[in-house]
Amino acid sequence: MVGSDMYRQQILDHYRNPRNHGELEDPTFSHVGENPMCGDEITMDVELAEDGETIERVAFRGEGCAISQAAASMLSERLPGKTLSELREMDRDDVLDMLGVDISPMRIKCAVLAEKVAQDGAEIYLGEKDLDRTSTE
Ligand code: FES
Repeated sequence: MVGSDMYRQQILDHYRNPRNHGELEDPTFSHVGENPMCGDEITMDVELAEDGETIERVAFRGEGCAISQAAASMLSERLPGKTLSELREMDRDDVLDMLGVDISPMRIKCAVLAEKVAQDGAEIYLGEKDLDRTSTE
């Protein structure tokens, strides 16, 4: 298995066996958002380490297509160890690299949903944003 086949398998695997699916017992912050194209919604829980800056644990829940669910699952594995600043510096290319397949313009909102929810959650937690829900408009 080479190239994009491997990535496709990886996406299906994360979709079928999502990592860190559910909720954290004691999240430092939690945030929800939706893809307005389909109405699918994801909630991200984030727990910070004692330094108040390093992400220790992430869990997610919600509905969505394989791309959105796999992106959330992969992110939940990659975010622990990163700082909130590093999370905030991530952009859509980081998610697209992580997924490793070509994503059509229609599905970009699916791909970046979890990342945007986590980033907005962090900015709300830091008092830099005031928002009830995220939308990947
Ligand atoms: Fe709803 Fe992808 S179709 S998140």
